[in-house]
Amino acid sequence: MFVTTKFGKLNEFKKGLFEARAVALVLKKQFSQKDVNLDEFFKFYSDSGYHEDRYKPLSGRDYDRFLSTRAARRQPSLTREITSMAYKVGKQMISLAEGMPNEKVFPFTRLEMHTPYDRLVLDGKELAGALQYVPSQGFPALLSELRKFQSEAHRPPPLPRDILVTNGGQHGIYQCVELLVEPGDAVLTTEFAYTGIHSVLRPLQPEIIGIPEDEDGMLPETLDAVLGERQRRGMKMPKMMYTIPTGSNPTGTVLPEDRRRQIYELACKYDFLIVEDDPYMFLNYTDRPIPSFLSLDTCGRVLRLDSVSKVVSAGLRGAWITAPKPLLERLELHTQAELLHPCTIAQVILLQLVQCRQSFATHLSGAREFYRRRRDALHAALTPLQQLAPFYMPHAGLFFWLQISGVDDVHRMVFQTALQRGLMLVPGQAFQFDIHAPCPYLRLTFSKIRLEDMDIAVKTLGEIIRYEQQETLQKQKRIATEG
Ligand SMILES: Cc1ncc(COP(=O)(O)O)c(C=O)c1O
Repeated sequence: MFVTTKFGKLNEFKKGLFEARAVALVLKKQFSQKDVNLDEFFKFYSDSGYHEDRYKPLSGRDYDRFLSTRAARRQPSLTREITSMAYKVGKQMISLAEGMPNEKVFPFTRLEMHTPYDRLVLDGKELAGALQYVPSQGFPALLSELRKFQSEAHRPPPLPRDILVTNGGQHGIYQCVELLVEPGDAVLTTEFAYTGIHSVLRPLQPEIIGIPEDEDGMLPETLDAVLGERQRRGMKMPKMMYTIPTGSNPTGTVLPEDRRRQIYELACKYDFLIVEDDPYMFLNYTDRPIPSFLSLDTCGRVLRLDSVSKVVSAGLRGAWITAPKPLLERLELHTQAELLHPCTIAQVILLQLVQCRQSFATHLSGAREFYRRRRDALHAALTPLQQLAPFYMPHAGLFFWLQISGVDDVHRMVFQTALQRGLMLVPGQAFQFDIHAPCPYLRLTFSKIRLEDMDIAVKTLGEIIRYEQQETLQKQKRIATEG
């Protein structure tokens, strides 16, 4: 699947050379652990495979029509290319070329990190390597491991794809928008979407096509109808869809397999690319594998964003993009210009985590159980509020999405009433492109609240909602009398 094309053999050669000098990790297994079935745990593909074969896969120049003017204008940085080369030729050649610092000035002598299962020890040359510049695409040993992981976990259809390490999933979102979106473009999302996509898009003043969701996420029939209508009317068509298929932020929905297949087919029919942002993939409480968009990508239309922020550490900024090779090469040029490369030490730690697959699975499965208990506890606490604030049980992720009955706009409720009573909430506005438009929804997160605080939090929430409903009624009466 991860086949190399363009940018030629030289690049491959340089990367291969670098790999030879990759940091060798010293791993020690310390504790016995409950084995998780790896084949089942890391399964994000369907046994029935990928069906879509009516549409022609995109290749090479086909991708040019999706690129923003900014992305199309990027050029490789020569010094970055030389940095990659230096890792091999350094021993045999005298170099006056490198802008790399000399590792002898680095003050660190040893790095040691423990998890309940493994130990990472770096010193000497290995530590120096983990503290040095690396190629923009990522730490080569990590890239190899991630390619293997993606192939095994998603089994994507065989097309030229590759991976770019990013500085968190948010950085991946930023990169995708920079790559694909022109000012004023039409962009597909769900009606309510993660604030991070809106923050990136706002300066580009796009036209947001927000497709409504039900309990199971985005409605493919509506998507088809909206796009069909735009096409008939000769309106600008979107080149990109942003979606959070598993445990959406904020609505908590999980797109079932049949909807994923329908949406993928619509991407082929209406010629758009799918940015699949999936940081909650390991927090799927259904215990049934759901195929990722990547696993269905027969035509090279998916840019997949992975992140370990929610399940390993948010501060590590451990994340990566998997994308068709022609797009990935453009993304790498962006990284060259933007940050040279994400932090090397963080990449070495991420490598350690991913390559110890059994420990990784054990940890992730524990994290899922931890959050599942909290989800169940908040669900139990919220159940008496169903009439006041209808909600669906989230089957993945970290959020409940409540529609407050009899309240058109929760803004005042969140920033006055709730704060005065010591409760912090997020209004649904945060997830609208227009943050000033009224919104009757609240997002509740169960990740950090203590279990023993849930009942009191929900009791206070109930009181606040009742108070707001009264206030809204009074206001309506006043308006009616004045009118
Ligand atoms: C859907 C979604 N994407 C991306 C992010 C950002 O994650 P990261 O820490 O990987 O940048 C978040 C964080 O809340 C998120 O909910």
